[in-house]
Amino acid sequence: MVLKPSLTALQVMHDAPVIPVIVLSDVAHAVPMARALLAGGIRMLEVTLRTPQALECMAAITREVPQAVVGAGTVRTAADAKAAMAAGARFAVSPGYTPMLGQACRELGLPLLPGVATGSEIMQCLEDGFTELKFFPAMQAGGVAMLKAWSGPFADVRFCPTGGVTPNNSAELLALPNVVCVGGSWLVPTDAVSQGDWARVTQLALAARALG
Ligand code: 3PG
Repeated sequence: MVLKPSLTALQVMHDAPVIPVIVLSDVAHAVPMARALLAGGIRMLEVTLRTPQALECMAAITREVPQAVVGAGTVRTAADAKAAMAAGARFAVSPGYTPMLGQACRELGLPLLPGVATGSEIMQCLEDGFTELKFFPAMQAGGVAMLKAWSGPFADVRFCPTGGVTPNNSAELLALPNVVCVGGSWLVPTDAVSQGDWARVTQLALAARALG
């Protein structure tokens, strides 16, 4: 059975110029971090499945910060997608793509932003019906020049470049017609999280919001 998602990948991408890529290793940080981003106008939050606490962090944000829309990052398998959805994730972002992952997300009704870095990977995603893609790792794999090159043969694809994106290079990326938003970890710096410097996270979110 295929469930209809309440949200589309394009809606996730259009919400703000930047999707924060978040790594949390302490559940106590999840809710204040989410509130800090929300205060800066960022509500699509990609919490990566890179720590043992990630699922619990997603559940805490979902429960206590209902205005935020929690997504799961680093989703690599169907099991990851299922666990993330059970924890409250409403979208998924993956660093690569497999047809098995695509099918699992579709069956779950979980919007997926699949990761691509080559033309063949884009073609596989298109074959499976995915037209909104994460370009990862964007700056390492060709950045602006690569996105310009793809705009010819893949004019129907919209990208969220992630990986090596910073406040300095995001304006150039966001100006490209095939880029809807960018992803980056700079909005939630590790030291700000460990020091509980939520005002800094809000400032970074406000600055990111202003990029759009
Ligand atoms: C990701 O996890 O998607 C990227 O590693 C984020 O990249 P950045 O840390 O360079 O923003």
